[in-house]
Amino acid sequence: MAKEKKINPQTAQNEHGASMEKLVSLCKRRGFVYQSSEIYGGLNGAWDYGPLGIALKKNIQEIWWREMTQKHDNIVGLDAAVMMHPRVWEASGHVENFSDPLVDCKSCKTRFRADNLDPEALTAKKCPQCGGELTEPRQFNLMFKTHQGPVDEGEDGLVYLRPETAQGIFVNFKNVVDTSRVSIPFGIAQTGKAFRNEITTKNFIFRTCEFEQMEMQFFVKPGTDPEWLAYWKEERMRYYTDSLGILASRLRFHQHAKDELAHYAADAYDIEYQYPFGWQELEGVHDRTDFDLRRHGEYCGKEINYLDPETNERYIPYIIETSAGLTRSVLIALMDAYEEQNIGRDKDGKDDIRTVLHFHPNVAPLTVAVFPLVKKDGLDELAKEIHNELKMEFNSFYDQSGAIGRRYRRMDEIGTPYCVTVDSNTKENGHVTLRFRDSMQQISVHKQDLITRIRQENRIYKRN
Ligand code: GAP
Repeated sequence: MAKEKKINPQTAQNEHGASMEKLVSLCKRRGFVYQSSEIYGGLNGAWDYGPLGIALKKNIQEIWWREMTQKHDNIVGLDAAVMMHPRVWEASGHVENFSDPLVDCKSCKTRFRADNLDPEALTAKKCPQCGGELTEPRQFNLMFKTHQGPVDEGEDGLVYLRPETAQGIFVNFKNVVDTSRVSIPFGIAQTGKAFRNEITTKNFIFRTCEFEQMEMQFFVKPGTDPEWLAYWKEERMRYYTDSLGILASRLRFHQHAKDELAHYAADAYDIEYQYPFGWQELEGVHDRTDFDLRRHGEYCGKEINYLDPETNERYIPYIIETSAGLTRSVLIALMDAYEEQNIGRDKDGKDDIRTVLHFHPNVAPLTVAVFPLVKKDGLDELAKEIHNELKMEFNSFYDQSGAIGRRYRRMDEIGTPYCVTVDSNTKENGHVTLRFRDSMQQISVHKQDLITRIRQENRIYKRN
């Protein structure tokens, strides 16, 4: 039988020409994402978000937050501390279970996750890199440890950096019930940093040691959990296609088999994205049963339960969790938006390739760019005036340097949906040229109608 061709995750491309290699290069070149501590040679598994990267990340976070807390009357927000009492992680099962199997090569000293290795290499104990002998697998806990207070290293003052934001919600369940007017079914949403000492941190911002999550824990009456799981599965998929504008054909569900389920889960689905290197997780939607609240009750010595105000029934709620990666969402927003388009011939007769990011306007770091056609005849002042008005409502960018075609291309490459060009007509009759990123179509609009027109276009945007 012919051997399956091995995919190189860095160079594999999707049908629009996007690859991890090209994306990393664009992100660096245009200020989306830089390697952490680059001037010192970089740090594995850590990345910095540049001016456009932070704008993109904040937009996604805000859309998620609005989607959860503003559009649902029964979901409230929370912002818990990164460092928590160490007993939290005993109760949650992380101290015992949150580990990956690890093997070392005795010759080249490379460390691998045993479950990522080719089963043949693992059985033969042969290093895939140098052919040296591999050690037996051993469990490696992924939580970062640190020490709080003026203590020497050891177990004194031991605290963990949270490996998920979820536990901050569970330990505050009682606080929220007692201080807010919530009743079951209701949810608590939180976004924030999480840390995992990942063994494999390849693939850019896909899997990193420091990352951000957007999690919502939905508390329900036991027995109603299957129907709420079904509800949240669909809601979360709809969010990716409708609110973030991700192509539906690149998303799917994967239900966890019995042997894949986490120690707390009765049922679980991943929302997977089709990266150029294959289908991988983007978000988890889990039925966590009453595991978390029951365990925290046991470990803190006081049962955590809920009194139904209508039936006077007391029970430990079940939890449906929606757990999305914010930094991973930044990656899929970029990956999904990327396209290399052949749009004819350049002046030397070669293929003219335009790189464009088809971001949904809600997600795009810049919504609109304003250009004077030339820097003279007062067009620059007029363009600045229009930019100053637009920026009261949108992320607007002013640019007067270079040929107009190059200015358009620069905006296409960072995914700016609209460009406004001010020319001599604007002085005469107030009309500007509004150019659309995806179609490259240009129309004439009165400058007074720009804000309304852009608002409308944002509302009806659909990617072709
Ligand atoms: N509270 C459940 C939980 O944390 P998870 O499947 O381990 O579940 C949820 O993580 C999401 O967090 C993942 O789907 C992914 O988007 C993101 N994530 C997890 N580990 C990550 C890492 N090392 N780097 C970047 N994102 C990560």
